[in-house]
Amino acid sequence: MNGIPGASAAGSGNRGAHGAGPGGRLPAGFPAVRPRRLRRSPALRRLVSNVRLHPADLILPMFVKEGVDEPAALTSMPGVVQHTRSSLLKAAVEAVEAGVGGLILFGVPAAKDARGSAADDPAGIVQLALADLVAEVGGDIVLMTDLCLDEYTDHGHCGLLTDAGEVDNDATLARYASIAVAQARAGAEVVAPSGMMDGQVGAIRAALDADGFTDLPILAYSAKYASAFYGPFREAAECAPQFGDRAGYQQDPARSVVEALREVALDLAEGADAVMVKPALAYLDVLRAIADTVDVPVAAYQVSGEYAMVEAAAAAGWIDRDRAIAETLTAISRAGADIILTYWAVEVARGLAATR
Ligand code: PBG
Repeated sequence: MNGIPGASAAGSGNRGAHGAGPGGRLPAGFPAVRPRRLRRSPALRRLVSNVRLHPADLILPMFVKEGVDEPAALTSMPGVVQHTRSSLLKAAVEAVEAGVGGLILFGVPAAKDARGSAADDPAGIVQLALADLVAEVGGDIVLMTDLCLDEYTDHGHCGLLTDAGEVDNDATLARYASIAVAQARAGAEVVAPSGMMDGQVGAIRAALDADGFTDLPILAYSAKYASAFYGPFREAAECAPQFGDRAGYQQDPARSVVEALREVALDLAEGADAVMVKPALAYLDVLRAIADTVDVPVAAYQVSGEYAMVEAAAAAGWIDRDRAIAETLTAISRAGADIILTYWAVEVARGLAATR
């Protein structure tokens, strides 16, 4: 479809009412053309609807915290918790039963240090939780890990710091490589690097290959923006930067889509198997551009702030929660996402199953 039907043919009667007329002109339009005809009934609307969500395309982000006996509710993300190792398993089984396609694990360690030692410790929280998950739900849902350092460093940045307090790109790559191998050995089926270091996908690919994990895919957070919408996540993962911000490594929202396409191209050249855009709703243009360009699966992450906004407005009675959730996810899908990461994954998957 080119442009708006009828836009260029005002006053020309019924000529060309079906499709473009001579010279590629748009249809003449009303009264022969009436788009409302296909909106007349729920059955008709359902018949012609062509943007559909499926539970198998949803990924549930999950937080697991070391050394706790009870799951902890998150004030800024009502309905989302930091799991214990056992409550994580119960929730993962629920995700499987709802038909959710994957889960992505974030660890909250008991102790942090400058180099994020817990991230690649075989006895670190994510590695232990992965082993539990493999035993409980292995094969029933894709087990993924977020691969980053910010949850593990005492300074809260996504990489190692130089003496001057700057994030050291190349030194960080060695840490990411080691974390990838630790996660793979513990049972991760997909690793998802989210730190936005240059060369991270290549470094992780090489390390996985050298350890025998040549067939383990990388879902790259390729176009990841320095966003205010990560606010609630910083409570969930206890990883707010202790100084400065992430603008030195995450993308600037005020750069054109061309930069995102370049990041994606670099990640693909380094061996990424699928790419991600993050956040989702404020970057639908980026998502569309990438979906139109690449020949790998494209994921979009509906982040913590996107979740919190809808929940907060709904709690205040200002918005219809269920419709808002469906509408945002439909928009993300319409913009080209093959896979959507969302904290609503289980609820939405259940709802989709009920309406089928
Ligand atoms: C970094 C990471 C972040 C999120 C996912 N991975 C935080 C950040 O970049 O500051 C945010 C996810 C969300 O807001 O839901 N490890």
